[in-house]
Amino acid sequence: MQIPFLGNINANEFLRIYWQKKPLLIRGAFVGLDEPFTPRQILQLAADERSECRLIQHGRGKWQVEHGPLSVAQIKRLPKRNWTILVQDTQHFSRAAATLLQQFSFIPHARVDDLMVSYAAPGGGVGPHFDSYDVFLLQGSGRRRWRISAQRDLALQPGAPLKILSRFKAQQEWVLEKGDMLYLPPGYAHEGVALDECLTYSIGFRAPSNQELTTAFVDFLRDELNMPGQYADTALRATTRPGEIPPAMRSGLKKSLRQIRWDDALMERFIGCYLSEPKAHVFFDAPHSPLTPKQFARQARLRGLTLDLKSRMLYCGEYIFINSESFHAAGEDVVLLRALADQRALLPGCLTHTGSALLYDWYLQGYLHPNT
Ligand code: SIN
Ligand code: CO
Repeated sequence: MQIPFLGNINANEFLRIYWQKKPLLIRGAFVGLDEPFTPRQILQLAADERSECRLIQHGRGKWQVEHGPLSVAQIKRLPKRNWTILVQDTQHFSRAAATLLQQFSFIPHARVDDLMVSYAAPGGGVGPHFDSYDVFLLQGSGRRRWRISAQRDLALQPGAPLKILSRFKAQQEWVLEKGDMLYLPPGYAHEGVALDECLTYSIGFRAPSNQELTTAFVDFLRDELNMPGQYADTALRATTRPGEIPPAMRSGLKKSLRQIRWDDALMERFIGCYLSEPKAHVFFDAPHSPLTPKQFARQARLRGLTLDLKSRMLYCGEYIFINSESFHAAGEDVVLLRALADQRALLPGCLTHTGSALLYDWYLQGYLHPNT
């Protein structure tokens, strides 16, 4: 598969040689990049209580982090240099940002985290650090100097309010200009410093840690388990050590715990719900005056429909997952819903049959919208 912004290698070559393995600098990856945001729009988002944002400033070896939303006073007080504002999940607020993120769809949606935008004054940055995620750093307007290192020493400065490497020793260095892009695998030390007022787009990919995954699975199991029966001790004998947990009770309860079982189907359902779960601060808006099912079906058939910018939709076999809910689909619906998950939209005419009843429910929940 040829991806225009990967330069002269194709998607599989990129994945085989670089993905999760080593950095790649692509000069002119997005020639004539049409940026989804202006600095002013990033400031507006930073002041919006629905967005997740941080203001990071530094001076005289000290770092300061403030969490958003930022007030007008905070924004007005910003000095000329040495600050950056980072806004997460910008694809939730702008169709253009979502379209930029969608261009990375040669990587499964299940791996996508977000499109973060950093708006920095000259000298601004988040310091030398490493991330646990893969990231493409796409330069927008202005220039940023990136220094990177394959160093193994990932010790962090104690007491700093953000992750700053104690001993960063750069091995490579580049100045990125508009449209240039740098890919970094997880755990690679890096530092980006704005040379001018600049915007940088971080396309980030997430991978659950084993600890997060198993904790979430145990939570999921708690809701799914249905364990019949109750401990019984019809053969109980009088005791002189009432404080002791009786051996027969111990073995009986251990036997009950060993009854906990889960099969592949349950694990797959968990995986789909887990990977499609929106972040904690994400909420969906139901339509104010909803269309009737008939009106909805007609509009969707004639105009197509689009997933809400905040929706996460995935599938696995005949199971469809949207925003942590799972559904079993059959027949024509499977084809239709898989297409919706892949493209995040259905074109006019795609809804040839009556249209899945699920789509109407999801519309009522604000998970998708018929095009107008
Ligand atoms: C930034 O763009 O300033 C931070 C991105 C990163 O280093 O991960
Ligand atoms: Co980073």
